[in-house]
Amino acid sequence: MYNSKIIGLGKYVPDNIVKNEDLSAFMETNNEWIVERTGIEERRWIDPKTGDTTAVMGAKASRIAIERAGLTVNDIDFIVFATLSPDMYFPGCGVQVQEMLGMPTIGALDVRNQCSGFIYGLSVADQFIKTGMYKNILVIGAENHSGGLDKTTRGRNVSVIFGDGAGAAVLSRTDDNSKGILSTHLHSEGQHAKELVLEGPSTQRWVPEILEANDPNDESYYPYMNGQFVFKHAITRFSEVIMEGLAANNMTKEDINLLVPHQANLRISQFIQKKFKLEDDQVYNNIMRYGNTTAASIIIALTEAWEEGKVKEGDNIVLAAFGSGFTWASAVIKW
Ligand SMILES: CC(C)(COP(=O)(O)OP(=O)(O)OC[C@H]1O[C@@H](n2cnc3c(N)ncnc32)[C@H](O)[C@@H]1OP(=O)(O)O)[C@@H](O)C(=O)NCCC(=O)NCCS
Repeated sequence: MYNSKIIGLGKYVPDNIVKNEDLSAFMETNNEWIVERTGIEERRWIDPKTGDTTAVMGAKASRIAIERAGLTVNDIDFIVFATLSPDMYFPGCGVQVQEMLGMPTIGALDVRNQCSGFIYGLSVADQFIKTGMYKNILVIGAENHSGGLDKTTRGRNVSVIFGDGAGAAVLSRTDDNSKGILSTHLHSEGQHAKELVLEGPSTQRWVPEILEANDPNDESYYPYMNGQFVFKHAITRFSEVIMEGLAANNMTKEDINLLVPHQANLRISQFIQKKFKLEDDQVYNNIMRYGNTTAASIIIALTEAWEEGKVKEGDNIVLAAFGSGFTWASAVIKW
């Protein structure tokens, strides 16, 4: 049986830094509230003049990942693109990346699993490689949140949290079974779909209906989040799915070299760190600089951790995510 291994990582974030203080110019909020509740100090929001979009940022991160993998675009067999903020309702961003990078007419799959999207995408790619169908797969997570947030006081409990950016990984076939993706575990619980949701426009609430209602208080086309409800579920599910991944590999928390959690809230990461009795250098956090970048968050964090030399050969790396759906997931990797 084949095995799969990450051989290239890349990230791209917009240059435009929006500090907590900057948000006070257009909504009632303050640095203390945001830092205390979330740990976020600043985030990147696309400057529309730059031409960056979800797909463009995904393509930029991908170029770096492919180059670091020592491959060219012609070596990639398949694209998996995870995002909740695509450039268009359809088609998805995967085909845009195929075109932007000038790739051959390979398949491109879009994954819609929000904050768990990157791990879901990694899991799909892992299966394709392990069955022998493909050799090199580009897995991308990218978000343009700033294009769709309610940036008034009404939307402040959501809009201060989310940031833009992209990351990409090249997953590749290897015959070495001692290294690579050891396991992925995926979960969902749709009964809580509306606790973290963007409802419209959609086929259940299409544009003419919204226009006809002409309701200035209509918030259905902005993200809604029941923050405390999400928080409580997140800490439980993060722990469960990390334990599940460790158990499947006959590991315990002592075997973790580095945990890269989805960057939802620094308080969630700190809770998990304490629960698993991990040291500060065993949990990678960068939410302070980027906010929550949803499908991009884990892959941006993993890329930065690798760039900083914190991901070493032979390390056990655990990725874990929780988010809208609800969906949650983990991946255990022997680097
Ligand atoms: C969103 C979150 C930070 C909010 O923190 P919280 O402690 O639950 O805060 P609440 O929403 O109860 O709001 C508390 C007060 O702060 C106010 N507030 C909300 N957003 C604010 C902001 N940006 N600035 C200042 N005040 C704000 C509220 O209006 C409320 O005021 P009130 O007490 O006068 O009614 C927190 O619930 C959270 O992180 N949840 C999980 C988020 C998550 O993981 N999401 C992503 C999963 S992918």
